[in-house]
Amino acid sequence: MCAMPTEDATAEVSADETVAETGERDQFSGNLGFILAAVGSAIGLGNIWRFPFITAANGGAAFVLVYLGLLVVMGLPVLLAEIAVGRKAQLNAVGAYRDAGEQGETWKYAGLLGVVAALTVLSFYAVVAGWTIQYVLGSVTGAYFGDPGTYLQGILEGPSAILFQLIFMSLTAMVIAAGVSDGIENTVEVLMPALFLILGGLAIYAFTLDGAGAGYSFFLSPEWGIFTDYGSLPALLVDAAGQAAFTLSLGQAALITYGSYLGKDRDLSGSSLAVVVGNTSASFLAALAVFPMLASFGILGTAGGVETTFQALPAFFASLDLWGRVLGVAFFSVLAMGAFTSAISLLEIPVSYAVDEFGVERWKAAVLIAEAVALFGLLSALDQDFLTMADQIAVNLLIVTGIFLISVYAGWYFPDLKEEVNRGANYVKLGGFAQIMLRYVTPVLLLVLVLFSYYDFACNTVGLC
Ligand code: TRP
Repeated sequence: MCAMPTEDATAEVSADETVAETGERDQFSGNLGFILAAVGSAIGLGNIWRFPFITAANGGAAFVLVYLGLLVVMGLPVLLAEIAVGRKAQLNAVGAYRDAGEQGETWKYAGLLGVVAALTVLSFYAVVAGWTIQYVLGSVTGAYFGDPGTYLQGILEGPSAILFQLIFMSLTAMVIAAGVSDGIENTVEVLMPALFLILGGLAIYAFTLDGAGAGYSFFLSPEWGIFTDYGSLPALLVDAAGQAAFTLSLGQAALITYGSYLGKDRDLSGSSLAVVVGNTSASFLAALAVFPMLASFGILGTAGGVETTFQALPAFFASLDLWGRVLGVAFFSVLAMGAFTSAISLLEIPVSYAVDEFGVERWKAAVLIAEAVALFGLLSALDQDFLTMADQIAVNLLIVTGIFLISVYAGWYFPDLKEEVNRGANYVKLGGFAQIMLRYVTPVLLLVLVLFSYYDFACNTVGLC
């Protein structure tokens, strides 16, 4: 909290400079800056614990094939759609839906849904991100080395969860207050290369461990039987589609917002391919790092998710003493950096809406919205069950609906899709491909995903079945 006044002061100067210098809306200064920002949005907890475990649980390499297929036929077209809509309108999520295509006065509510989804996700994402910071510190001091389980229980909710949630939100607000090129772009240009280097280093280290082979085969050994097990095939497809959408940050207008800061001469087709490849590489590196470590420690079969990341791996690090501290700092820094660059893209969604539509100054919007989100996030920091519920509502209802809507909008109500996707393309032109997919393929796939998710939410979360 005490950091706030300084933040405001610096933010005001740089935001004013940017506007004064260019006299127009801020933009990414290059393709690379945009790609890193979009990859930064994409890489997060979804890559580091969700991907490895969802793969291991669903038949290894066979699941990977389905997932990669869905990335191409669904992930890439929707990614192209979001960026194209944003770039066409050069406006925030709501303004972009309203101005890019037809019947905008109705469609703008889809943009509003994206803003609401972003606020909801950010409120609990910041709490989880706070845990990762506490684990970086705990790795330095060895605080969790004695008893990882007790350490985890101590930080999940309550005062320290709140403190680190607030620190994390303050840092995120500082970056957003500084603007797109000075804030977001400068940050991702440092953090994304660092993240890949450390993750690559961890994967190489993992390769040297005894039992690494068992880790790889747990992850990848293909169970081709899943393709003929017709009973469980639908659930598998839904898992793979959900992961493909979540990992690319689709359905919440994050990429609409980032796309709106792209100049008309930028290569949108090539950048989107780079984003998909970069994000997928991070998921694989994470799996290649995590499974050999668990295998060498003899705890391969554990469930995955929160306990594995914040309890099983810490136990492994603790067993290695000093070297474990280094590994712990490396691993949890990757998580913290991934969460940070994702949170930056989440906060930019409502901030850009407030700036474009209501003429609020950027730094004010950043600080006020961050404060409101942090306040709402207190509920998640105080109560694990609330956090889980917010997560389920956001992912199973809001995001899934958002991704279906952008697909229908881009395919049927945005006549300039093809032209916008191909404009400025240097290597490949994906406009024709995106148009066919968004009209005839993705809406069908996504409708299945929507219905399945709603059903799952009603049954398993609300308990109606
Ligand atoms: N892609 C992020 C991850 O893999 C999570 C995420 C989903 C997200 N939707 C988002 C991040 C929107 C930023 C914006 O962890």
